[in-house]
Amino acid sequence: MFKRMLVLFLFSFAVLIFSMPGIETVARKPPPPVFNFPSARDNPPAGWAGPVFQLSQDYPTTAPASETLPWKAFDFKTQPIQYINALLAYGLEGNIEVDFQGQKNAVRKWYHAPWMHPGREFIHGMTHERTSRPRELAPTQTRSFQNWAVGLYNAPGGFVLGKVWANPNAPDPALARFPDGTVAFKLLFTQASVSQVPYLKNDFEWLSDINQVSKTGKAPEKLRLLQIDVAVRDTRADTTTGWVFGTFIYDGDAPGATPFQRLIPIGLMWGNDPSKVISGGTLTQNFINPDQHIPQHLGFKGRLNGPVDNPVSSCLSCHSTAALSLNPPRPTINGIPPANPTNAQLRSYFRNIKSGTPFTPGYTSLDYSLQLQVGIANFVSSGALVPLVGPHGPTGFGIAAPHNAMRRRAMNIIVPMERDGTPAGPVVPRRRRNR
Ligand code: HEC
Repeated sequence: MFKRMLVLFLFSFAVLIFSMPGIETVARKPPPPVFNFPSARDNPPAGWAGPVFQLSQDYPTTAPASETLPWKAFDFKTQPIQYINALLAYGLEGNIEVDFQGQKNAVRKWYHAPWMHPGREFIHGMTHERTSRPRELAPTQTRSFQNWAVGLYNAPGGFVLGKVWANPNAPDPALARFPDGTVAFKLLFTQASVSQVPYLKNDFEWLSDINQVSKTGKAPEKLRLLQIDVAVRDTRADTTTGWVFGTFIYDGDAPGATPFQRLIPIGLMWGNDPSKVISGGTLTQNFINPDQHIPQHLGFKGRLNGPVDNPVSSCLSCHSTAALSLNPPRPTINGIPPANPTNAQLRSYFRNIKSGTPFTPGYTSLDYSLQLQVGIANFVSSGALVPLVGPHGPTGFGIAAPHNAMRRRAMNIIVPMERDGTPAGPVVPRRRRNR
């Protein structure tokens, strides 16, 4: 009798437990990945009281709810200024108040790409950009200046970063497909002084550890906001590239009460105007703002690029090369055409590559994200890492059983790309000046 009652009791207990919906789902659902990528190359020196960069890496693990996208109210071809200004307002909203720490934004969260830390300084997470040569920024500029930048993705972009890096030991490039509404927003700062580049007056400034204080003892430097880049995945551009890229320059002489109100659009592009590569001529897939008065070097034959960019390129042509391959001789593709290019090479660089399509067959497209490319390249070249056959074919990279030949190959040939479009060397501490 007692035995039977005990069995009955245990049975009803089990039925009760398993019919509780909460417990059942908790038991079945795999735990969401916990991201714990390093933030920056160095730790702050002892006694540092200023800001310290934290990688915003609480990537959404489910597709973010759709929100109103203010730029969708405008046609980028016929209302380019309204379109790009709506993107700027969206990128600044809630970010100015928290000094662009995307995870603290009270309106909407923004996310950083992982594995750029070998190049990120510790104060704002900035990485080294293309250096501006004399007279590139202004006729009065006589010396070269370093530029540094940090970029953020909105939630749809952060969702994709999290998917690609869901296994932190084996990123999967095949999952780099950004949905409509993805925005990447990038702030570029320059070392240039106001005396050399006068339109930088009354600018927004950031301290930046460009001298690696913990290694060289040389204090952080004040940099000035020069340029803001935006990239947006917009399906209305699917007939060309699927992406719209735009850029702003800071103009200290422009009206506006704050530095952020003195950012002037340089232009917008949604295609490379492939029919005007050799002939040149009026571009119809690029808009250059006629009301922007700071003399600018544009990109190839008038295509859009930014003040710090390489004049032989354009935003979309460089970003269209974002891809990876496991097959030698080259895992990544140069971002700019070779020196003295043939017409065929130029035509190749200024094609309209569709979102998700690789620049070169056999490569896996990273859907215009060079930050993903830089991050994965850093990851692979960091040491005990080898290319893997990932779940989507032979394009994953991960920690695997040592396989020295493969590892050597990966380390020798996969290097991050600099904004100049050429591969950067391995990240090494800067040499002391006075030696
Ligand atoms: C010659 C190459 C080159 C050109 C030209 C170029 N970029 Fe980039 N861009 C890069 C590289 C490399 C990165 C990744 C490293 C980084 O963020 O510093 C990058 C990153 C970005 C990002 C962050 C998200 C991402 O896609 O990786 C945005 C946004 C961006 N660029 C916008 C622009 C815009 C807008 C222009 C034109 C005004 C432009 N870029 C021109 C090389 C280029």
